Amino acid sequence: MTTSQNELKPPHSPTHDLTGQHVVVVGGKTGIGLGMALAAYAAGARVTVASRRTASIADHSELAPFEQLVLDISDEDAVRATFNAIGSLDHLLVAAGPTDGSWGAFMDEDMRGVRSYLNSKFLGSWACARYAAPNLSSNGSITFLTGGIAARSKIGMTAVTSTFAAVEALARSLALELGPIRVNAIRPGFIDTDLWNFLSPTDAADVREKVRANFPARRIGYPADVGHAAVFLMTNPYVTGTVLEVSGGETLVDWLF
Ligand SMILES: NC(=O)c1ccc[n+]([C@@H]2O[C@H](COP(=O)([O-])OP(=O)(O)OC[C@H]3O[C@@H](n4cnc5c(N)ncnc54)[C@H](OP(=O)(O)O)[C@@H]3O)[C@@H](O)[C@H]2O)c1
Repeated sequence: MTTSQNELKPPHSPTHDLTGQHVVVVGGKTGIGLGMALAAYAAGARVTVASRRTASIADHSELAPFEQLVLDISDEDAVRATFNAIGSLDHLLVAAGPTDGSWGAFMDEDMRGVRSYLNSKFLGSWACARYAAPNLSSNGSITFLTGGIAARSKIGMTAVTSTFAAVEALARSLALELGPIRVNAIRPGFIDTDLWNFLSPTDAADVREKVRANFPARRIGYPADVGHAAVFLMTNPYVTGTVLEVSGGETLVDWLF
């Protein structure tokens, strides 16, 4: 084989195998984060999940294979202490996000909700990356989670749009600063999780029907769809600084939310 042929040959073929790797999913006990944790575990990883509450294994047997930690990402000291205790890891997934306090008109005089939302979602994602980075393996990765509204604003959702856009910018910037550690964001569309429990059962069914009717993929999204994307981002060694949309085409169409 000539030198130029050797240069064309990749050092290894990318796989979807995470055997022997340690994956930490912040916000991994429910919803999208749980979908990511289950996908990482199915790919062979040892998985640690962290969030504010401890889930009972008796009630949530799907969490049995994971180590569970208690962590509030809006508390920087707690984030530092948690990642010091975790020690070495290969991949960090930050799925945690407050799901309240972030709706309202821009002209509202009370900015407490916005501050609290930014503090949890943006600065919390920042702090997790900051204190995990020294312990991440050099061929490891960080993946943040945003949402379709980052790309398509809606009235009353300015805090969420701005925060998600900031998290996506953080991914690009950290890809530069932390390389060769790879840093990406996943931008999901509608995903059927407890986040939607604020709706009445009738309204929730109506939203699902609107999604099926209007999204180009003609289906609703599930946490496993995002988990699949997370495994891709953890295992492909040449993807960094990108936003991977897993939305069924949500940002191409108008719909209720
Ligand atoms: N579902 C969708 O359609 C959708 C679409 C686009 C974007 N998203 C975004 O995706 C993220 C996850 O949403 P989801 O649908 O999976 O909702 P979810 O099931 O309510 O998950 C949110 C998770 O974040 C954790 N969490 C919240 N605040 C935290 C904090 N301060 N520190 C640590 N953990 C915290 C929660 O656990 P604890 O309560 O135990 O802390 C929970 O496990 C959110 O940012 C959401 O805005 C969701």
